[in-house]
Amino acid sequence: MEDLNYIFSHLLFLILILLHLLHSHPSSASSSYNCPTSLCGATPYSVHFPFRMIDQQPDICGYPGFDLECNSQNSVTLNLPNSGEFLVRNIDYRSQIVQVYDPSGCSADRLLSLDLLGSPFSVSPIRNYTLLSCPVELTTSRFPIVTCLSNSTYSTVATSSVSFAMLMANRSSCQIIGSLWSPVSRYQGQEGLTSNLNMDIFLTWDSPNCQDCVTQGGACGYTNTTMEEVACFDITKKGSKKAMMALIIVSIGLALPAIGISIVMIYYICIDYRSVATWISRNNAAPATAMVTPETTTAISSLVAGLEQSTIESYTKVVLGESMRLPGYGDEDATCSICLSEYDVKDMVRCIPECRHCFHADCIDEWLRMKGNCPVCRNSPSPPPSLTYYNNLT
Ligand SMILES: *[C@@H]1O[C@H](CO)[C@@H](O)[C@H](O)[C@H]1NC(C)=O
Ligand SMILES: *[C@@H]1O[C@H](CO)[C@@H](O)[C@H](O)[C@H]1NC(C)=O
Ligand SMILES: *[C@@H]1O[C@H](CO)[C@@H](O)[C@H](O)[C@H]1NC(C)=O
Ligand SMILES: *[C@@H]1O[C@H](CO)[C@@H](O)[C@H](O)[C@H]1NC(C)=O
Repeated sequence: MEDLNYIFSHLLFLILILLHLLHSHPSSASSSYNCPTSLCGATPYSVHFPFRMIDQQPDICGYPGFDLECNSQNSVTLNLPNSGEFLVRNIDYRSQIVQVYDPSGCSADRLLSLDLLGSPFSVSPIRNYTLLSCPVELTTSRFPIVTCLSNSTYSTVATSSVSFAMLMANRSSCQIIGSLWSPVSRYQGQEGLTSNLNMDIFLTWDSPNCQDCVTQGGACGYTNTTMEEVACFDITKKGSKKAMMALIIVSIGLALPAIGISIVMIYYICIDYRSVATWISRNNAAPATAMVTPETTTAISSLVAGLEQSTIESYTKVVLGESMRLPGYGDEDATCSICLSEYDVKDMVRCIPECRHCFHADCIDEWLRMKGNCPVCRNSPSPPPSLTYYNNLT
């Protein structure tokens, strides 16, 4: 009976110590300073250095330029000095990418005027898209359009091919309205035309560089209150050293009669450590959220690469003579259905072999480089030796 009491009291002591240890781990995980978990809306919002939530975390928790705010709609916002307010979708501390978007749903519009001067961020990887404003007749069921930059009479088309933009501007009634650097996400691999400009904007930062630190399970933070130097705090090692010490003390305290129980408890401690380690890595790791919206899914399924130049060159190309007879089946319009402008004598025309649809050579060449199918019947010319599907997008 005495023995049992002895064992129970030690057991209780051990459990209390363990509980204390487990509880103290999460708070020690945010650098040497105790930066409180912020709240936005009803949910706790885990913000780590170099970001900080203003009004909720002290200055020392964040680096200049990385202030986040919880707005009146309970959304986390990032304010860029020259480009205004964006909503924050996700922060990847490992890759140092913050994923933001326009509150009103037109990130493409925000990209047109994006100016990152005075902020610690840059866009990467990037592609220069030229925006064309075209009459709707020209785009309907032919081009993917940027819906939030279009209205009932004019559609906005975005292309990464400057020559196609020039061609359209020269030949059709489209007008170049600007160009923008699009941060190309992993879903935006395609060349040419895109309707995907309205996706989230991926901003990266180089300084402070905490990539190695975070990857190794550490946490970046200021070394002291002068906020001059940033260092990596090895939270996992500190934690396990502390835990090991406690383990030794507890084991000694339990002495011989409790060895059996100690063994059992060590087993559980190990399990708990694993859960602590998981907790830490889960909190430091970037949630691998690539928001798969319906828009994204469509983009992926329509990701058919264009044709190679040699394939395109193998299709018949003719110079229109005085008779203006097209080398197709003869039932074509007198207009090129890509740029909607009429054929003229001496225009270079190229026809797709299978369907015999003909277009201005300049127009169809550019089109096939981007899309790989006939703009009229959507048939993919065969054999398409270079036709590949992007299947590595997961
Ligand atoms: C992007 O392309 C446009 C042409 O459409 C060009 O005028 C502009 O200078 C390019 N931007 C950069 C930064 O190269
Ligand atoms: C549509 O947008 C164009 C410019 O892109 C503008 O000139 C035109 O007035 C707009 N039309 C309507 C109906 O809003
Ligand atoms: C567009 O027109 C200009 C001048 O008319 C010309 O210099 C340029 O080469 C043309 N570009 C294309 C792609 O046809
Ligand atoms: C704070 O850190 C900086 C840089 O590491 C150092 O120069 C400075 O002496 C430190 N100040 C205090 C009060 O420890």
